[in-house]
Amino acid sequence: MSNGKNVLLEVQNLKKYFDTPRGPLHAVDDISFKLFEGETLGVVGESGCGKSTLGRTILRLIPSTAGKIIFNGTDITHIRRKDLRELRKQMQIIFQDPFASLDPKMSVFQIINEPFKIHKLYKDKQERFNRVTELMEIVGLDPHYIINTYPHELDGGRRQRIGVARALALNPKFIVCDEPVSALDVSIQAQILNLMMDLKDELDLTYIFITHNLSVAKHISDDILVMYMGKMVEKASSDRLFENPLHPYTKALLSAIPIPDASYKGKEAEVLQGEVTSPVMPSENCRFSPRCPLAREECFSASPEFVEVEDKHYVACHLIKKCNN
Ligand SMILES: Nc1ncnc2c1ncn2[C@@H]1O[C@H](COP(=O)(O)OP(=O)(O)OP(=O)(O)O)[C@@H](O)[C@H]1O
Ligand SMILES: [Mg+2]
Repeated sequence: MSNGKNVLLEVQNLKKYFDTPRGPLHAVDDISFKLFEGETLGVVGESGCGKSTLGRTILRLIPSTAGKIIFNGTDITHIRRKDLRELRKQMQIIFQDPFASLDPKMSVFQIINEPFKIHKLYKDKQERFNRVTELMEIVGLDPHYIINTYPHELDGGRRQRIGVARALALNPKFIVCDEPVSALDVSIQAQILNLMMDLKDELDLTYIFITHNLSVAKHISDDILVMYMGKMVEKASSDRLFENPLHPYTKALLSAIPIPDASYKGKEAEVLQGEVTSPVMPSENCRFSPRCPLAREECFSASPEFVEVEDKHYVACHLIKKCNN
């Protein structure tokens, strides 16, 4: 408990390695955090840093390699298939592309009704119909016009509203939102973000919100976790991260926001050199060191610890640790 809130999700030293012909790919490497009920953790970082893999591993959509996932007080890391089915009701996911994630052969009614079929809920036809229309109204869709249409007949915003309604169907406590607005027009993005924030308050939801867009992360998150090549590099409250980013990678990400956020007082844009290399059998160094403008000898030889440098502000950087010791 903290501030009267319960910890809904605790992730301890979570790892997910994929077998590849060149060796194990460290997609998620030693991630730990606590997420309180009703809060949103934003997860940011460049493409391929492991955001989706982290979300999917937490939801048990893919098995973990090591570590623990504790949801609502229960260790779910290795729970059985039968129990996983029950867990699905409480943990849901909203995907990035509302077109690819909706079956084009199914009508809107069939899509939102599907979770009820899978979980054998609302056997009474009228009751099901009522629940589907209620969910449509909750996400701002008019059932009268839309219930019998198909995804291709609708614009991206409406399609994503259907994805949200489907995720809400079973009354979940927790939703992993994996880039839910990235595929949408900018004008629609704000509508969907506002809808998701309203729903969070109305339905007491807890989110992990994955995005590569830092402005979006700031808008929606209580805390932000910055990932780099499977590792945690920085975590702080959303406000603090923008006011006082410490890791050179976070600074570079913030300075790369096209219209600099007024709350980030970075002096000049720092351009990241090089590209993210694949974390296949990475060496024991700071994974950011090959691209870091400040890297020193120790950065190339040892992996920095993730330490609390000010209240609830964590960073994994040899240089920052030095400053504060
Ligand atoms: N099934 C898989 N098998 C092998 N490697 C995988 C698999 N899924 C993901 N990866 C690799 O794991 C790493 C992390 O991928 P992931 O999709 O989690 O990144 P991401 O941060 O979500 O990227 P994006 O922003 O592009 O969605 C990448 O190097 C990716 O190639
Ligand atoms: Mg992804």
